[in-house]
Amino acid sequence: MREYFIKPKIKSGEDSLDCLKTLKYSSYLIVTDKAMVDLKIVDKILEKLPKDSKVKIFKDVTPNPTVEIVERGLKEIVYFSPQCVIGLGGGSPIDACKGILYFNLKIEDELKIKREKPYFIAIPTTSGTGSEVTSYSVITKGDKKIALANEEMLPDLAILNPEFMKTLPSKIIADTGMDVLTHALEAYVSTIATPFTDSSAKEAIKIIKENLVNHFNNPQLLLPRENVQYASCMAGIAFNNSSLGINHSVAHSIGAKFHISHGRANAIIMPYIIEVNTKAWKKYSELAKLLDFNPTDDENGKNLFNGFVKKLKENLGIEKSLKDLGINFEEFKIKIPEILEDIKGDICTEYNPNRLTDEDYIKLLLKIYFGE
Ligand SMILES: NC(=O)c1ccc[n+]([C@@H]2O[C@H](COP(=O)([O-])OP(=O)(O)OC[C@H]3O[C@@H](n4cnc5c(N)ncnc54)[C@H](O)[C@@H]3O)[C@@H](O)[C@H]2O)c1
Ligand SMILES: [Fe+2]
Repeated sequence: MREYFIKPKIKSGEDSLDCLKTLKYSSYLIVTDKAMVDLKIVDKILEKLPKDSKVKIFKDVTPNPTVEIVERGLKEIVYFSPQCVIGLGGGSPIDACKGILYFNLKIEDELKIKREKPYFIAIPTTSGTGSEVTSYSVITKGDKKIALANEEMLPDLAILNPEFMKTLPSKIIADTGMDVLTHALEAYVSTIATPFTDSSAKEAIKIIKENLVNHFNNPQLLLPRENVQYASCMAGIAFNNSSLGINHSVAHSIGAKFHISHGRANAIIMPYIIEVNTKAWKKYSELAKLLDFNPTDDENGKNLFNGFVKKLKENLGIEKSLKDLGINFEEFKIKIPEILEDIKGDICTEYNPNRLTDEDYIKLLLKIYFGE
């Protein structure tokens, strides 16, 4: 049996923050990072919250949030006991916020504390993870990234305000935009994809083709900025219902071990995953058709689609391989057995179109390292 589940309510547009004015809660915990405070994005939220409410700001989240950061945030939520929690920032603060909420609920359950679950609002400031509409949270433990999935972590409200993306450095636009493409692509070729998930995945892929490079070159232009934000959210809705694939499993492991941003890791890996997912070549070919290439057969369609991905990466200044990124081969080689274990234990691996053997994975990892 398959399931399609839609939540949260989504407010979008330049005036979307105004919905905060209607909230009636008396206490708010904002989980964010230092950049959001420095860029005064936090101030924009504070301006809209009810004047007489109590607000606490936890701004210690760092990129690729760790278990230790979640534990620190947990202390804040336990002591403050807010009625509403706001995750503000890129995927890192929103995921950390989800982790904090989830472990807080677990503690309350274990101790049989009967308290209403705080209302959870997610406000993304990158167009990438789609975390504002997913029940996933990715937390780093040592040199491993652990993807958690639980409906309790799904926000109640997502606010998409394109104004916040104006300050994004172009490198982050490139990385997070490629994360969007990876989500949509993996959702589309997933073994549990449905027409529901296909529709938002396909639309997100089209939007990325038509807008990402323009947004990267002109972050001040509203239309491409807003479109990429919609694509990010739609790709999130798609993969929340059809799961991801080994592009993400490999990126989680390599990203954590070599400190590569999530979107860049996904982008470097993508062309090699497309080649190895032979069972999805027909679907890549369908996407080539969607993007107005004219495939002659499935293999040609897969090649055309992969050509589009490679060109997009080039336009965004993304490396072709881990070697190009400057990673030392000896350090990479020594970690291969651990990477293999990580991939096989990652929840994203289950619904990938092809099942790979250890030997297949090793060959794939070597290609990702050296490039073609
Ligand atoms: N929950 C999910 O479903 C899901 C899916 C994919 C990835 N992830 C996880 O999300 C994390 C990555 O999130 P991300 O790619 O959004 O990046 P991020 O949240 O780590 O942010 C990257 C950098 O951009 C800065 N930044 C964010 N918004 C900005 C803005 N508007 N202006 C200027 N600077 C800004 C941040 O301060 C940070 O330094 C990873 O941990 C990844 O594993 C989660
Ligand atoms: Fe991702």
